[in-house]
Amino acid sequence: MIEFKNVVKQYPNGFRAVDNLNLLVHEGEICVLIGPSGCGKTTSMRMINRLIDISSGEILINGQPNTELPAEELRRQIGYAIQQIGLLPHMTISDNIAIVPRLLKWDEDRIRTRVDELLDLVGLDPDISRDKFPRQLSGGQQQRVGVARALGADPPIMLMDEPFGAVDPITREVLQAEFLQIQERVGKTIIFVTHDIDEAIKMGDRIAIMRDGHLVQYDTPDTILAHPNNRFVRDFVGTDRTLKRLGLIRIKNLMDASPPTCTLDSTVEEAKQCFVDYGAKSVFIVDKDDGTLKGWVDKEELKTNTSLLDAMYEAHWVDIAVRQDATAREALSAMVARGFRVTPVVDRHGKLVGTITLKALQDLVSYDPTSTATTEAVSNVG
Ligand SMILES: Nc1ncnc2c1ncn2[C@@H]1O[C@H](COP(=O)(O)OP(=O)(O)O)[C@@H](O)[C@H]1O
Ligand SMILES: [Mg+2]
Repeated sequence: MIEFKNVVKQYPNGFRAVDNLNLLVHEGEICVLIGPSGCGKTTSMRMINRLIDISSGEILINGQPNTELPAEELRRQIGYAIQQIGLLPHMTISDNIAIVPRLLKWDEDRIRTRVDELLDLVGLDPDISRDKFPRQLSGGQQQRVGVARALGADPPIMLMDEPFGAVDPITREVLQAEFLQIQERVGKTIIFVTHDIDEAIKMGDRIAIMRDGHLVQYDTPDTILAHPNNRFVRDFVGTDRTLKRLGLIRIKNLMDASPPTCTLDSTVEEAKQCFVDYGAKSVFIVDKDDGTLKGWVDKEELKTNTSLLDAMYEAHWVDIAVRQDATAREALSAMVARGFRVTPVVDRHGKLVGTITLKALQDLVSYDPTSTATTEAVSNVG
């Protein structure tokens, strides 16, 4: 846990880069600091590991003021990854990652194992990359090494200053996704600086929005998108914040988990009973052994057909269903494209696990009448 208490950074020229910052970063969470250039993000971050001195106030790490330890010792407990990567060009990848473990005087066997483990963690093949020099790697690969190095001695805290800022947008998305997976395993307390709101929404458990050295709003991404505090935050998150919110919500949390279902080998009588039981207009047909979605049948069709196979619409689940781990935003576009009112939801093997309606998505966004994006999203759906 990291706590800023009335933290001020005033430069000798009188300029206050950080002005009375109060912020609580929870254990094991990613706290994203975001705001326009010059608002004090980097300064705030660098006061944590004392690369910049505080003018007044204090920063507590697990309740202890960060001034209590010698700066060197403090920094060994805090991983630091920056946009410029900061890999030492004349040292191999392995030596770069080993910097902090060597400072801590780990034995060489332990260091070697740790380096390979970290390379593996960040998605680089140890045998291929270990003895290379930074210039022999791509920008994205160097960025990964930067993350590996920050994790070197397994510090409980990580400071990351626009760590993916220097790579192209596609590589950045890959690195973001990979880093979130890593974080799921390592559970560090992380301060992550960015000026990209989409990155903040994706990476942050909580987002701290700063302006002119002040904290303007500190909330979960969903709350920031649904209830921006003021005009500055509203403008900062952008006009499409309703759609961004939909991008945060997984279909499995919205779906109805008891879909009207019968199996491929059901008789017409059994299928008719399904319509009665569920009160539905369509019933989904699944494989009786593995539950894979095979298609659907409409009530009308059962009247004129003598077998379920003749009455049903056969379709591959890829073409008619949405995945339960899809976001509401992804599902919305799929549902709009297909024009279904009720869309089946499947797991990654195509097994039917629920249904989702357009109305569920509309209800989700409609409570926020101030957002024009809501109306657009819903009217586009028609
Ligand atoms: N030594 C200094 N003297 C005066 N102002 C400074 C000094 N260093 C940084 N600043 C100012 O502090 C503000 C905050 O900088 P910084 O924390 O780096 O912003 P960012 O949010 O872009 O990371 C900027 O306006 C910067 O110009
Ligand atoms: Mg900065």
